[in-house]
Amino acid sequence: MAPRVGVRGDARPTRSDFAVDRAFGPGDDNDAVYSRAAVPLVDLGLRGGVCTLLAYGQTGSGKTHTIQGVLGRLAEDVFSRQERLEEGAGRGRISLHVSFYELLGDEVTDLLGGAGDGGGRRVEVMEDAFGAINTRGVTELAVESPEQFRELCDSALSHRRTQATFRNDSSSRSHAVCAVRVSNGLLREAEDGRLFVVDLAGSESAADSQFHDRELVRETKLINRSLSSLKDCIRNRALSALNPGRFYHVPYRLSKLTLLLKDAFEVESHRHCKTVVVACVSPSVADVAMTLGTLRYAVPIKVGQMNRDRLPPNPKNPATWSNAELRRWVDKTSRGAVSADTLCPHESGMQLLRVPETEFIRRVLEGSGKAFGEKRAKAFYTSLWKLLIDARTAERKAKLKPKVPNRYKDVEKLAAEWLEELDKNQGEAINVLREQEWEQRTKQRVEEMEQKQKRLQANKENEHE
Ligand SMILES: Nc1ncnc2c1ncn2[C@@H]1O[C@H](COP(=O)(O)OP(=O)(O)O)[C@@H](O)[C@H]1O
Ligand SMILES: [Mg+2]
Repeated sequence: MAPRVGVRGDARPTRSDFAVDRAFGPGDDNDAVYSRAAVPLVDLGLRGGVCTLLAYGQTGSGKTHTIQGVLGRLAEDVFSRQERLEEGAGRGRISLHVSFYELLGDEVTDLLGGAGDGGGRRVEVMEDAFGAINTRGVTELAVESPEQFRELCDSALSHRRTQATFRNDSSSRSHAVCAVRVSNGLLREAEDGRLFVVDLAGSESAADSQFHDRELVRETKLINRSLSSLKDCIRNRALSALNPGRFYHVPYRLSKLTLLLKDAFEVESHRHCKTVVVACVSPSVADVAMTLGTLRYAVPIKVGQMNRDRLPPNPKNPATWSNAELRRWVDKTSRGAVSADTLCPHESGMQLLRVPETEFIRRVLEGSGKAFGEKRAKAFYTSLWKLLIDARTAERKAKLKPKVPNRYKDVEKLAAEWLEELDKNQGEAINVLREQEWEQRTKQRVEEMEQKQKRLQANKENEHE
């Protein structure tokens, strides 16, 4: 309910409805939030999926409160599940690695590095040629117990830069991202599971920033920009899931936040992913406008829950090959000279493509005895890559093709018909012209003959006289 003042000054409540999956009221604590919102994520994350939990809302609405609660319970839960998963398969096969990022504008810092309070190390977030996100300069720690996990989270969150604002005495003006990597030693082909728990910077209205100095206003701008690119990414991802036949651009390169979370809303993702957005709202009537803004931001995200299937297998695209297909290619292309057991003992096509060039070449040299020199090994690497690039170009072209409206096809057909008609008509026209010409010439000739005859007649008459 939002109060609206009419022209006569009478205030009336207006009602807005939003469809969400779950609503938590004042009676629900963080246990309720965790068990209903985060548990499905943990399940999937431990099995190799990409899971993200985002807390969004205005400053002071309880985002940090929620995230701290979730992280605390997550530690306990992850370890008890991990034990269950490992039962019978020997211990220590599933390992957890935690890293913490703080994002302020386009500056990313490491929250586990120690120094803290703005002194954290700079982190570079980059995308490699395969579209995978790599980070440099971040501390990634292996965690062995729930206590250690909780300690790490507490220490990282305490290192966040905070600032007193109009809304909150210790407002976090940055996004904090807790990234947990789950590597599964039981399934070597499986990619690492990812769990992202994100405490977004508070969305602020113009009214909130009225007492800000210049630096704070600049920060507010950066915050709002990254939140809006996050929204664009999620919205376009949702649209793309709704209309699988159309091409939508997901602008994840617009901010470091979306770049870091790219896996979560990648359209072409062949991995299972799940994203939960917790929209935090304040119950105060003074915050109604911000509450509406928060809900308008968060509600469209629900559409994007649909996930695409795996990349369809394409014999021309090595990124979709299984290990068996890859081995067949290696045998065929090298005419049996390179041992697939050495080059790709268990890798899928995608995994081999991710192997760095030097490592690839080393394996080819090792697996081919003396048959392959470094040059040939490099050419072998390039030929696999060429296949990928050709396949990608072809796929992209095929995707863009339907963009040319069908009506152009109709025009093309019509034009061809017209040309044909013209050709036929031209032939006929020429015939008509020829006939006319022939008729005219005949006429001329007849006239000439007649005149000649007349002249001859006249001559004869003259002679007689
Ligand atoms: N659901 C809740 N129950 C109890 N206290 C809460 C709840 N949500 C927020 N708070 C309190 O409100 C204050 C502001 O919350 P905080 O999480 O820091 O907001 P934000 O991170 O969104 O700026 C904190 O003191 C926090 O403990
Ligand atoms: Mg906060």
